[in-house]
Amino acid sequence: MATKIALITGANKGIGFETARQLGSQGMTVLAGARDEGRGRQAERALRDGGADAHFVQLEVTDAKSVQRAAEWIDAEYGRLDVLVNNAGTASVARRGAPPSQTSLDDLRGVYEINVFGVVAVTNAMLPLLRRAAAARIVNVSSEVGSITSQTDPASPLSQMPASAQYPSSKAALNMLTAMYAKELRDTPIKVNAANPGYTATDFNDHRGFRSAAEGAEPSVYLATLPGDGPSGILWGHIWTTDGNGGYGTLAW
Ligand SMILES: NC(=O)c1ccc[n+]([C@@H]2O[C@H](COP(=O)([O-])OP(=O)(O)OC[C@H]3O[C@@H](n4cnc5c(N)ncnc54)[C@H](OP(=O)(O)O)[C@@H]3O)[C@@H](O)[C@H]2O)c1
Repeated sequence: MATKIALITGANKGIGFETARQLGSQGMTVLAGARDEGRGRQAERALRDGGADAHFVQLEVTDAKSVQRAAEWIDAEYGRLDVLVNNAGTASVARRGAPPSQTSLDDLRGVYEINVFGVVAVTNAMLPLLRRAAAARIVNVSSEVGSITSQTDPASPLSQMPASAQYPSSKAALNMLTAMYAKELRDTPIKVNAANPGYTATDFNDHRGFRSAAEGAEPSVYLATLPGDGPSGILWGHIWTTDGNGGYGTLAW
């Protein structure tokens, strides 16, 4: 069987790096997307030192030229793409956690540029390559924080979080995009799902999360390697319950 080719955006650190490491350890060729060449090359070296066939790809998800160059390079090198993990994301560009009434449109747009528009840009650029694979998998790294059900269910720990606009609404938009891509592609072998890493200790939250980056990558890896009879159009991953760890499963949108 041909070696699978996997592109992970934001793979230079955190959950993305761990996703690349784990997919690499399964024998996939991993294309480590990073916006900064220095950080990307460092990740490439670390992944190779761990035994993975890893290659840095310069990829700034908000830059159309960068996205196009990455797609052209993958096309020239491999001619197809088996796995796309849209992992790059940000919690805020300014005034993190600000409530909706104190959120400027610029701040909202800044987060959407990366978490929402960046995913659409990368996915649409890579789709011709994904269609050439035998059974491609697209994983959008989302969050339970973007689940409208969890945010509004008094029994969910998420409902206790202060109201904020930027990050939760961006991930809710990403969830719907996941469902819509899955719907568009339902008559193809391509599966499109959203991953919930759970609260993971990375730079993203100054390492306050209670899960390791390796654990946070597990939902992405699971969805990237789904068998042919696996689901498409779901949000899957860590389930946070009031008593702590609810294990893995499908989350309500
Ligand atoms: N940590 C959590 O608790 C948690 C929970 C649920 C979901 N998530 C999601 O998991 C994903 C990864 O988060 P993480 O915790 O691993 O965060 P992280 O350690 O801060 O890593 C984020 C990655 O995204 C990259 N990135 C940010 N903006 C980018 C852009 N415009 N273009 C390309 N790359 C960009 C960063 O690159 P630089 O190094 O260059 O900044 C970095 O590689 C995100 O989508 C996040 O929303 C995280």
